[in-house]
Amino acid sequence: MADSNPRETFSYIAKELNNLKIVYLHMEEPVKGSIAPAPEARLASTIRGIYKGTLILNGGYESQTGNEAIESGKADLISYGVLFLANPDLPERFKKNGPFNTPDRSTFYTGDEKGFTDYPKLGN
Ligand SMILES: Cc1cc2nc3c(=O)[nH]c(=O)nc-3n(C[C@H](O)[C@H](O)[C@H](O)COP(=O)(O)O)c2cc1C
Repeated sequence: MADSNPRETFSYIAKELNNLKIVYLHMEEPVKGSIAPAPEARLASTIRGIYKGTLILNGGYESQTGNEAIESGKADLISYGVLFLANPDLPERFKKNGPFNTPDRSTFYTGDEKGFTDYPKLGN
């Protein structure tokens, strides 16, 4: 979501969300790659300090970086998008430390099952 003053806007929203009985707040903030925000533009730690409920982060996390984010208190939970899409048995692969299927970005947002339900599970 774009905003002309994201830190002020989303800090206000996070504060107000404390007054609602929502189950969690989920933020996508890419940790790496060309769309990763510059350090000064990152909001997750600011929001973490304001929002008192369960905070879920995602955006380019892998097993180790996800665990580190939880252990450091940066988030309560990490969600996985692309990695889960390409690895339907992702929890098992995390436990075994891989191997991981390589996501095929050419199949993203295409609207049929290819690239959504046909990645092999471990042992297949
Ligand atoms: C093919 C594809 C479909 C997605 N569909 C949705 C969706 O329907 N709703 C949603 O909130 N996010 C959707 N996402 C975004 C992911 O949930 C996630 O926020 C994003 O991929 C960043 O996390 P990741 O780096 O772990 O993949 C989609 C992402 C991909 C690649």
